[in-house]
Parts: sequence; structure tokens; C-alpha cells
Amino acid sequence: MCGIVGYIGKNQALPILLDGLKRLEYRGYDSAGVAVKTADGVFSAKAIGKIVELEKKIGEIKSPFPCPLVPRSGRRAPLLKRANTGIAHTRWATHGAPTEANAHPQTDCQGKIWLAHNGIIENYQELKTRLAAKGHKFISETDTEVIAHLLEDLYDGNLTATLIKVLKILKGTYGLAVLHRDEPNKLLAAKRGSPLVIGLADGEFIIASDAAAIIRHTKQVIYLNDGEIAEISDRDFKIFDADNNQVDKNVDQIEWDQAAAEKGGWPHFMLKEIFEQPESIANSLRGRFMAEAGRVKLGGLEGVAERIRQTNKIIIVGCGTARLAGLVGEYMMEEYAGVPTEVDYAHEFRYRKAVLDEQTALIAISQSGETADTLAAVQEAKEKGCLTLGVVNVVGSSIARETDAGVYSHSGPEIAVASTKAFTSQIAILVLFTVMFGRQRQMSLATGQRIINELIALPDKIRQVLALNDEIKRVAEKYYKFKNFAFLGRKYNHPIAFEGAIKLKEISYVHAEGFASGEMKHGPIALIDENFPSLVIAPLDSVYEKNYSSLQEIKARGGKVIAITTAGNGKIKAAADEVIYIPKTLEMLTPILVTVPLQLFAYQMAILNGRDVDKPRNLAKSVTVE
Ligand code: F6R
Repeated sequence: MCGIVGYIGKNQALPILLDGLKRLEYRGYDSAGVAVKTADGVFSAKAIGKIVELEKKIGEIKSPFPCPLVPRSGRRAPLLKRANTGIAHTRWATHGAPTEANAHPQTDCQGKIWLAHNGIIENYQELKTRLAAKGHKFISETDTEVIAHLLEDLYDGNLTATLIKVLKILKGTYGLAVLHRDEPNKLLAAKRGSPLVIGLADGEFIIASDAAAIIRHTKQVIYLNDGEIAEISDRDFKIFDADNNQVDKNVDQIEWDQAAAEKGGWPHFMLKEIFEQPESIANSLRGRFMAEAGRVKLGGLEGVAERIRQTNKIIIVGCGTARLAGLVGEYMMEEYAGVPTEVDYAHEFRYRKAVLDEQTALIAISQSGETADTLAAVQEAKEKGCLTLGVVNVVGSSIARETDAGVYSHSGPEIAVASTKAFTSQIAILVLFTVMFGRQRQMSLATGQRIINELIALPDKIRQVLALNDEIKRVAEKYYKFKNFAFLGRKYNHPIAFEGAIKLKEISYVHAEGFASGEMKHGPIALIDENFPSLVIAPLDSVYEKNYSSLQEIKARGGKVIAITTAGNGKIKAAADEVIYIPKTLEMLTPILVTVPLQLFAYQMAILNGRDVDKPRNLAKSVTVE
């Protein structure tokens, strides 16, 4: 996710801002920028790529001011000395590709109001249209720029009061840092749904989206709550609620060191990313429902809506975990949209002679958007005249650019090599595809509404599953010395059995195989004995009885069973050695809830086996070679 740093105080802002951005580099980003207030105006620079590119840019920019802003060879520019207020940002593209124009800080028509924003403004399109009609000139494709223009439009001489008004108009999420060229000694911060912390140092304040950017200066912090706005000067700060009432806040003490702070206090990125899933799923779905109409709004597919209507066959491609999300999509598409769907490894698809035509849609799934095999599959399908659609996390990546249209999964940067939050978001996006394809065809209004309502409830249900981490750790403690595991599932959770196995083997190096439950008796059950435990995925769904029979077959051969089932299913306790419960949801959504305990199990097993969880051996985060 993007990073925000802001500074006001006794020191020069620019070096502190750049240092803060570097402390946030671990979060992943694709462009960066700064804006500092000087005696003569606001100095801003932006660059695509790493912070060093931004530093180079700052060095190269011919300062519009009488003396250079960046001191060279130790010479301290007097002007820079007075530049003691500023904001900076690392952007991980969501609306619009990583370009300088789209990088933050964004500004208004007159270059007076500057802001850095994390989050997504859902109603930006409608606000942009309204403001453009009033003569505002937009230069970026971002949702953020509308905030600057809206502030300009409503500005009444007091940035704080204007921001309070503007925030009431915005729908969506934000962490914001804002300054105005003509309001001296003022830096504003605001938060709704996206973290923002204020660091209180001696004669200076550092605001940041993440304590990692603050910790070097101070461990005294104030965490803003949703709806709160901070008005900060070089000496003092005031915090207001959404109705402009001043509120008192506690000062907290950060206990982490720098390394821990980068992981937000989590021991590993993988665990952090597993625990981010309530938010990452909410971000994937945000602004994409028309709940009453039982429909979804996928802006990225609007241009090809007619071709989607004419599609009579879908092929989903991807590699590894991404392909497994596709397999869940196959069950959904056929059951709810009635469109014949097949799933292939991207690396197989590119070499086989699949039967394709212009009514075939190829859906390519990729977190990175750079997987060479998946990209080649897209190119092959395009060549054959198919409609190519992407489900991609990284904005502006090769697959996002190569496909005819697509939907970003918005799960935020995934740093651990093993895919976790990106996978559950991919499934969530495929649910949206299913509703879109389905409502154009056989799906009723009531079914569309039911799916949407269940999607809305998902983040809370994921939170309930995450609360089982300690319980899952205790299970892992009993099993971590076993050398082989079977993962079993059927129908929607058949791909999740494979996902559970891939997660376990890639980070703990313990051998694990996924099986379709019904396949066991056709061969694999010969493996089962007291040293070969099985994880049986058996939610209370349309195939529960079948899964239960598989579980009993394993028990009859002396195999140990860890069962995952739906809350309320007490009966299974008599048969399984361990039981993990997930909340009730629609059958098609159980894969998302079932995946979470499997991720936690793999993580705990890897820790107990002493593995390098975030960087397992022999693996790369993005596989850009065939
Ligand atoms: C497993 C994992 C990999 C990726 C695969 C595709 O945890 O991360 O199997 O899913 O390499 O990568 P993307 O999604 O970037 O195309």
C-alpha cells in the first residue's frame, strides 16, 4: 500500500521526508513525490520508480527559487533552511498507471493546496465530472486529485474548516496529509479507514501512514481514529472529530524497533498479510456493488460489456496459487452464470491447441501481472481473436496492459513470497465476474442480492477465523514433525485442498499433496497410515456427506484427521482428531474462509520447522521467465 510522510517543525523538512519514505519502501510502491513549503511557494518533485530516482530528480530540478533547494557539496541554501513543512508519498498505483502525473502529492488548479492520500475515493468520478464542469483542470487519472480540487472549490480562507467540509462529501477511505501554500505553520492530517499516526518529537511533528517512518525521531505517538482530523503547527496540535469538536487524545508509546515497525509489529510479512485479509477483501469489493439491483459495477469491463454478453466459453489461466483461484471461478461460473468454463495452467495453455474463437473469453489471473507464462497465454489468446480479461493486483503491470480489459484486485502489495491476501482477493473478484456474467444471463435478482449481501459480510467472518490463530498454532505444535500431509476437498473446496498443500510445502518444505476427496479411493488412500495426516475440508455444504465419508475412510485406515467445518457441526468431533470451525456463508464463498486457517497452519508449521517464512528457498515473488 502507499505510504504517507508529513513534517512540520524546527528542522528542514526535505531530508526528513525522504528518509521517512525510505523507511516505508518495504511496503512496495511504484512512484514517489514530495512537496515542501518554502518562503516563496511550494517546491514539489515526483519520480517513477524508487526513492533514489526522486532524489536524483530533486537534484536535477532547476529550482524556481533564488537558490537551489537541495544543498550541494555541503552548501546550505538559506531558503531550504526555512522549508520546514512538507508532505511526501510513495504510491502503489490503484487509479491510473505509475506516472509522474499520477504520483502524489496532488495539487489544485493554482498549486496552492497539496495533498498525499492513501485509500480509495469511491465517488471520485462523479465529483470529477462536477468539478470539471465548473472549470477545474485535472492532470492526473487519480481519485486523489479530486480532493485537491474540491478543497480549492470550497476554500474559505481556513484549510481546516474547509477540509472538514470536504471530508463529509467524500465516500471511501483515506489517510490524508494536506498543506496550503498561503497558510503558514499548518499541516493537516485526516483518517478514515487508512492508518495515520502522529509522532510527537521535540519541537517537531512527523505524521505517517506507518510508525516505521516515525520511530527514528520519536516513540511518542498519537493514533488518529476514523473521522478525526489533526491540525498541527511547529509547536502544537489540535484534533477534531468529524463535526469539528476538539477531542483529547492519549499519547501512546511505540514498543517496536525499526525492523519490527516495518512489519507493523508482525514477526513476518506473511502473517501480516494473512491478517490484512479483512481489509484487503473489503478493498477488492469497495465501490463495486449495486446491492439493490443485485448487480456489480466493474468499471474496467464497461468497454467490453457487449463482448462479455456474447461470450459462450471462458478459459481461465494462471500459475500456482493464481490458477487455483481460477478453479474456484470455474465452479462459480458454471453454477451461477451457466457459461462453460475451463481452467488451465498458463504454461500448458500456451502450447496446447485449445479450441478458441471470438466468443471465447480468456481470464488471466496474476498477482504480479508479470508472470511470463500467463502473459504469453494472454498473447496467444489475443492472436486467436479471444476477448482477454485480467484479474491483476499490480496496476500498470504487463498483463494489465496486455489484456483487452480487466479488474484490479486491489489487495495491496504482497511482500511475502507465498501468496495469501492476493489469492482471497482473486476469488472475491471472480465472484464479482460471476455476478456480472450471471446477471446478464440466468441469475435472478434475488440470487445476485444474496451473493452481494454475503460478500459484504465476509470481512467480519474472516476476522472471526483469524481469531483462531492460537488454536491453529496448538494444532501445528502437535503435527509439525510429520513429513507428509494430504489435503482433501470437494467441489468449491477441491482447489482449496491444493492451495493448502502448496502453501504448506512452499514455506515449510513439508511434503503435502492436494486431492479431490472422491479421488482418494482410486489410489492415494494407499498412502494413508498413522504417519500420514490429512486435512479434510468439510464445510456444511452440498457435498458435506461425501466429504464426511472420505474422512471416515481415512480414519478407518489409521490416518489422523484435522477437519475444517462450519460452526455448529458438533457431530464431526467424534470422528476427527482436531476440528477447526469457520462461520457459515454461501457455499461458493466457503473457499475464502477455508483458505485462512490453511494459511495460518502453513505459517505455524513453517515457524516450528525453523524456516525463512517470507523468503522460502528456491522461490521468487515474480516469475518473469518461462
Ligand atoms: C504460491 C505463489 C505462486 C504464485 C504464482 C503466480 O504461494 O505465490 O504460486 O501464485 O507464481 O504468480 P502471479 O500471481 O504473480 O502471476
